[in-house]
Amino acid sequence: MPDKMLYPVNPDRTIPWNSLPELPIQRELSEDLDIYKQLGKAKEALALLNGRSIAIPNQGILINAITLQEAKDSSAIENIFTTEDELYKAYSEEKANQPLTGTAKEVLRYREALWQGYHYLTQHGFNDAYFIQVFNEIKETSEGYRSPVSRIYIRAGGSGPNAGKPVYTPPRGSGVVEAKMNNLIEFLNGGINEPDEPLLKLAIAHYQFEVIHPFNDGNGRTGRIMMINYLCKEGLLDYPILFLSRYIMDHKQEYYDYLAGVSQRGDWKVWILYILRAIEYTSRLTFEKIQDILTAKEDMLEIIRKETAFRKPEELVQALFTQPFTKVNHLTEAGIYAENTARDYLTKMTELRLVEKRKISGKHYYLNTELKRILSY
Ligand SMILES: Nc1ncnc2c1ncn2[C@@H]1O[C@H](COP(=O)(O)OP(=O)(O)OP(=O)(O)O)[C@@H](O)[C@H]1O
Ligand SMILES: [Mg+2]
Repeated sequence: MPDKMLYPVNPDRTIPWNSLPELPIQRELSEDLDIYKQLGKAKEALALLNGRSIAIPNQGILINAITLQEAKDSSAIENIFTTEDELYKAYSEEKANQPLTGTAKEVLRYREALWQGYHYLTQHGFNDAYFIQVFNEIKETSEGYRSPVSRIYIRAGGSGPNAGKPVYTPPRGSGVVEAKMNNLIEFLNGGINEPDEPLLKLAIAHYQFEVIHPFNDGNGRTGRIMMINYLCKEGLLDYPILFLSRYIMDHKQEYYDYLAGVSQRGDWKVWILYILRAIEYTSRLTFEKIQDILTAKEDMLEIIRKETAFRKPEELVQALFTQPFTKVNHLTEAGIYAENTARDYLTKMTELRLVEKRKISGKHYYLNTELKRILSY
């Protein structure tokens, strides 16, 4: 990385960084050999994933399961933990239009926001409304950008000596957030084409969004959704399927340290390599999961055909791979079977150990253990 052009760093982490430089960042990133190599790997892995995802029959089903997992991981970064059981139960309830509560609800909102953002960008470019809509959906609010007097700062997490102390104070003041967001939006829409590699832009844009920190809360999640939506917008991904948050969650301290490293030392290289590795790793992971899910589906179908005389085995398997927990009424409401048949078949499948019967809050679910295993590895 040519360090001759010094990036203006944040002089004081306890006062709002109003002189945060606007984009572009004035650095020849792709001239750096490490970045260049890692960029190649990330692009290749992403292209492989996208090629595979197009070929999936019944995309909706798989996408459902994958985006749900991404939502769970991204929310966990912010300590919104939910067990798989709670989550999938909530998901099943949601389908039954029952009111949701707790963390599972928040996770489902993240997934909804991911989709809303995706659909929005098929019609429009990035704009303030895009960000506000995603944020509103995540946080279940109708607020816009934070007030010019909002005194927020980012504190160090953990339990070390610095825990709770400010690591960074975002810019504030009349029109400040709006102006910086305008610049970011122009950058995302291609009005500023430096660098012209979308994956490099993505890494820069995520940093920039987090340092602007335009909302009172939910900035981390909004910024992660933006990355996945941006990949779709750029045509690098046809659907918002990428477990990006899995990598970030597993490397959470680095995520925070490297974001801070750009502000404090102008250390763009480490940050950009991190995001490129995240894209490479999660593209490969998502690819493998898709393969495994498709194989598991085929295997289940084969056993049903061999061991039973079930009617409509394809539709049954399809339903069982929509989400890990299936209820009798999922099958009846989808018009596949009458209630007695659905119950008999699920019982038989339990005996064949293709599913496991679980009771959660007094209700019976049939867990597709293999689907759950694949989604959570
Ligand atoms: N030093 C830093 N500079 C800029 N942004 C940072 C820094 N450290 C962390 N962040 C970002 O701030 C996010 C947390 O902000 P916020 O609380 O608004 O988001 P959130 O989605 O509600 O997550 P949370 O629920 O994060 O605690 C982190 O997920 C990260 O993206
Ligand atoms: Mg928060």
